[in-house]
Amino acid sequence: AVANPVVTDQNSCGRPNLPAGAKPIPCCPPKATNISDFVFPSNQPLRVRKPAHLVTGDELAKYKEAIRLMRALPDDDPRSFTQQANIHCAYCHDSYALDSTLPPQVKVHFNWLFAPFHRWYLYFYEKILGSLINDPTFALPFWNWDHSDGMDIPAIFTDRRSSLFDAKRNANHQPPVLVDLDWNRRGVDTSGEVDKNYAKVYKCIADVKGPACFFGSSFQAGGGVSSAAGSLETLHNTCHSWTGDPTDPNGEDMGSFYSSGRDPIFYCHHSNVDRLWTIWKEKFGGVDLSDKDYLKSSFLFYDENKNLVRVRSEQCLDQSKLGYKYMDVPILWKNAKP
Ligand code: C2O
Repeated sequence: AVANPVVTDQNSCGRPNLPAGAKPIPCCPPKATNISDFVFPSNQPLRVRKPAHLVTGDELAKYKEAIRLMRALPDDDPRSFTQQANIHCAYCHDSYALDSTLPPQVKVHFNWLFAPFHRWYLYFYEKILGSLINDPTFALPFWNWDHSDGMDIPAIFTDRRSSLFDAKRNANHQPPVLVDLDWNRRGVDTSGEVDKNYAKVYKCIADVKGPACFFGSSFQAGGGVSSAAGSLETLHNTCHSWTGDPTDPNGEDMGSFYSSGRDPIFYCHHSNVDRLWTIWKEKFGGVDLSDKDYLKSSFLFYDENKNLVRVRSEQCLDQSKLGYKYMDVPILWKNAKP
């Protein structure tokens, strides 16, 4: 087969294909004349990501301040709150072309781009926040919804005066209501069943052997496009729609791709998704995909110095090279075989 990795071309970025009822917005980032290839930073201090429900005191103050500063940046600054949210909009609503002649367009959901794209997204987001507060050790917390103590919306996100607050959330899913990892917008509300949630995480992480099931279907530029989410992505979907406001047309903010990056909790949700990828590899024998088109697929992100950088999926597979790790917390679902 001809190798045809998805390679993001900034010149192809166009109007997003938004869901009905969404206010039209341009999602493309500012254009850059120069794009550099990502190089691993040397001598960076380790960033340790902690459960959001354990973040207090100084750490919380720094996080809030970093998001406050990000919100204060002008919208055309690629590091701004708006631009960071728009990254998700552009990559999820067909803004980038696969090649000049053919649909379908680039999507980072329902296929194997899901895991590496979001890992990179958080990487740059975290670095930008750290640089705004001048703290290279700044680490994005994770929403530890796979642990009974972290299953509700972490308190740090619910203070209305905080930069971490977002008004567009489900009013019935506020703490102490626990998340439902089987949530279905139209179904019965079964929020709060801890064991059911553990069984779901077990099924989507511990019980998954092959990378094809874990990461989802392939996605290549010259064909071979299908659209099946892997178990990691399937597990993550419910938290989105459970959190978003059902009175908005598309469950905004968290319930729709174009708007979910506007809720700061999005990044902590994905921090946990990213952590479960690592746990799958470290504790359950998971192995990354080795397909060339996967490894060479590439994305564009602005870094903390406002430089546009090209990253490849293969460069993010070793998390330690990116300079962060997850705090060890008990894995309460490891024996939750249904
Ligand atoms: Cu790109 Cu949680 O979605």
